[in-house]
Amino acid sequence: MRSQMMPTYSPPENMEVSHGEGIYLYTADGQKYIDCVSGIAVNCFGHANPELVKVLKKQAERLWHVSNMFRVPEAEKLAQTLVDHSFGDHVFFANSGGEAVEAAVKAARRYHHCKGHPERKRIVAFESCFHGRTTMTVAVTGNKAQMEGFFNGDLDCDHVPFEDMDALKAVVSKEKTAAIILEPVQGEGGVRPFTNEFIKAVRELCDETGTLLIF
Ligand SMILES: Cc1ncc(COP(=O)(O)O)c(C=O)c1O
Repeated sequence: MRSQMMPTYSPPENMEVSHGEGIYLYTADGQKYIDCVSGIAVNCFGHANPELVKVLKKQAERLWHVSNMFRVPEAEKLAQTLVDHSFGDHVFFANSGGEAVEAAVKAARRYHHCKGHPERKRIVAFESCFHGRTTMTVAVTGNKAQMEGFFNGDLDCDHVPFEDMDALKAVVSKEKTAAIILEPVQGEGGVRPFTNEFIKAVRELCDETGTLLIF
């Protein structure tokens, strides 16, 4: 009985997950499963991980939320750790993948706007990609079934076939393109990795054309 839920997904009718532990999921009627989905990679540290439960509980007992109008030392510390261990200089914490992609697309368009090229708005993505379900990210994803009923006209997005460098070069331009976005391993596209050579060639094309690259 799910009539109270918006019908956006249709999970198996007769399976109710009651709790999880490590790699296992347990259903209300006592079945035990290995969780090969892991919340689509969200639970990669396992269910009810005691270490995580401990720190989450400690934080929840101390400070719940202050909004981004105040400094949060732990958030700054985590951001610094991410900066120290990656190529990035700044971190934006988001609540979901869709929100992260939206932020990246906005940052890319704003970057060109501030550089005096407000016309560079177009986002180039690869066919069979998946970048989220918000209004902007369905446009970036470009899957017709997920876009039906939402838009009129051009959405400032282009889509090219997987690993097709000629098609990519034909569409990327210094005049119009803000960014190329790609999942190094496509998920919805069938767990398809891009080759290192292709990703390096995309990086070079971005450098040549002043286009930003979003992973
Ligand atoms: C590559 C990729 N980008 C974006 C998203 C959207 O993430 P969320 O469902 O957290 O908004 C997903 C979700 O599976 C994803 O796999």
